Amino acid sequence: MTRFQKLELSPAYDSHVHLRDGTMMETVIPTIRQGGVDTVYVMPNLVPPITTVAAAVAYRERLQALAPDVKFLMTLYLDKSITPATIAEAARAGIAGVKVYPAGVTTNSEAGVLDYQSYYPVFEAMQEHDLVLNLHGEVPSTSAHDVGTAADGDVVTVLNAEPKFLPTLRKLHADFPRLRIVLEHCTTKEALDAVRACGPTVAGGITAHHLFIDISDVCGDAFNFCKPVAKTPVDRVALLKAIVDESGKFFFGTDSAPHPIEAKKGGKKPAAGCFTQGWATQLVVDAVEEGIANGWLPEDISVETLDEFLSGRGRRFYKLPPASQNGRKIVLDRKGEKIPEALRSKDGSIEVVPFRRGEETYSLTWKS
Ligand code: DOR
Ligand code: ZN
Repeated sequence: MTRFQKLELSPAYDSHVHLRDGTMMETVIPTIRQGGVDTVYVMPNLVPPITTVAAAVAYRERLQALAPDVKFLMTLYLDKSITPATIAEAARAGIAGVKVYPAGVTTNSEAGVLDYQSYYPVFEAMQEHDLVLNLHGEVPSTSAHDVGTAADGDVVTVLNAEPKFLPTLRKLHADFPRLRIVLEHCTTKEALDAVRACGPTVAGGITAHHLFIDISDVCGDAFNFCKPVAKTPVDRVALLKAIVDESGKFFFGTDSAPHPIEAKKGGKKPAAGCFTQGWATQLVVDAVEEGIANGWLPEDISVETLDEFLSGRGRRFYKLPPASQNGRKIVLDRKGEKIPEALRSKDGSIEVVPFRRGEETYSLTWKS
């Protein structure tokens, strides 16, 4: 029994996507609308990272040329070259925000941030120009070289890297109360509580994949491995409940992160990232169905609530017009469609394995 056999929703706003460049970008772009999404917030962790306004604008043009019917919001990658003057220029160019990657915590984060204080003039300028600060909320893991010097309570692994980051979130919010901050891809109950305890300028992003898995599912399946890693079953249920949270502070951001199959299982350490773009909306509705079936979510969860999570709250936080303005809708219907085992580039050179490959999901069509 499914709660929603067929449903009509507003196009989704995906507030956290990795679209890459070149052949991978060309392969992934068509999957944005396939996943019921018309507006995306694009991560800047290319190689090299997008650290200048000119690079962000050029990247936006490359994306827009491939998908004229998708709205692309752009971000800069925070590094030492970014100054308050860069922020003023970014605001003039319509760049929406700046992403913080703590150094060394995930894919292409080598150039990331180690010391937040040194960026205070930049955060001040962002607050003035109303740009959004996007936080990858993890601290780096303790290395074996530090064992013996770090007190036990200070030891950081992928399992507590997010809770250990939360004092930084609180401090940034206290020091810049008007700065809009998103704690991206929340994975713990502690993170949700920290976001709830902050003022209205702080929100939390929730992915589709973290609604389905916990740490046990990550061990043994490289295609479930992403950063931050999925945590405990208690955390997973807390994330599902955040969809219906009355604070209205949590919204959708897939963190869809495509990698070529070789990078995920080539014998080396697998690259972090789950690819969910093509089934973004469908996966959320699937997860909600599972949540209802297991008694974690209320039976009477409404289509309006789903719409708020997938589209309304995120658009409001980012000061975007409501989806209703263009009148388009997406229709999800359960017809036995399955998520494919792989997505291939046109020339066959790249193969990407989707999250929940082989599982049944909704079929999605656009209604204008
Ligand atoms: O799993 C992840 N993959 N987390 C990130 O923060 C980055 C992303 C990527 O770019 O592959
Ligand atoms: Zn990401």
